[in-house]
Amino acid sequence: MNNTISRNDFNYIRDLVQRRSAIVLEADKAYLIETRLAPLVRQTGFASLQELIASLRVDAGDGLHHKVIEAITTHETSFFRDGHPFETLKTTVLPELLAKRPPGQPLAIWCAACSSGQEPFSVALLAREHFPDSLKGRLRIFATDLSATVLERARAGLYTQIEINRGLPAALLTRYFDKQGLHWRLKSEIRRMVDFQQSNLVQAWPSFPPLDVIFLRNVLIYFGVETKRAILARVRGLLKPDGYLFLGSSETTLNLEPAFEPITLGKTVCYQLRQTNLS
Ligand SMILES: C[S@@+](CC[C@H](N)C(=O)[O-])C[C@H]1O[C@@H](n2cnc3c(N)ncnc32)[C@H](O)[C@@H]1O
Repeated sequence: MNNTISRNDFNYIRDLVQRRSAIVLEADKAYLIETRLAPLVRQTGFASLQELIASLRVDAGDGLHHKVIEAITTHETSFFRDGHPFETLKTTVLPELLAKRPPGQPLAIWCAACSSGQEPFSVALLAREHFPDSLKGRLRIFATDLSATVLERARAGLYTQIEINRGLPAALLTRYFDKQGLHWRLKSEIRRMVDFQQSNLVQAWPSFPPLDVIFLRNVLIYFGVETKRAILARVRGLLKPDGYLFLGSSETTLNLEPAFEPITLGKTVCYQLRQTNLS
């Protein structure tokens, strides 16, 4: 099977991916398209990558195009990814917000680009473990992603041993997961804490209440500058004046959205709205 991509076909896939997801594929990413689309070529029964792309060009339906986006997108994630943002959430952000909000007022957290659910479930597990009374019935966790496939996995709360080994403390595995064949299934009491919805960051967003915390981690890196600016401007409008924004460790709001200022809490840099914007 010849899966080497021509310049013309590369441009076609690059434009398709950018149009649908805003993900920018630089000119040196031909190998990425070749390796990520090879399994799709096999699954769909095309004789080669060229044939798959020829069919995309004439296919008016959405199905195959969507599969290409799914295959190209990076869904890399893990439980308590990077550790310290969750530590900061536990030791500083949630205690501070709980102290400020009137008793009983819900706290709302949105994990944008949540992939297969490890990130919002890490938040849910942290809340259940460390704030069992103060956050009981008070925490609303929204989680969205572009990909229907990862959301299906997230809703099922079903993880492989390898995924479990990546960041989930043994004590949490014992308390909150059940063995199911070769997988581990998160108990429904935790699964129920997260409201998953499919949503594209560059299209209309679901309606959220004003948000206390937004996790927008490891997704802006795939976008161009104008897309990052537009998303951060919309995020600004959703975050409560004293809320917190968490980005991935290689991401920033600097030179993109001046309304945010970086705040260092322990080992974490997170972002808050500048007070000058609020007066
Ligand atoms: C690398 S994962 C990050 C997951 C998680 N936030 C973390 O940090 O572990 C990036 C996710 O962004 C999603 N994504 C990419 N483009 C998107 C878009 N335009 N709208 C919404 N989600 C998108 C992908 O489907 C993928 O699941």
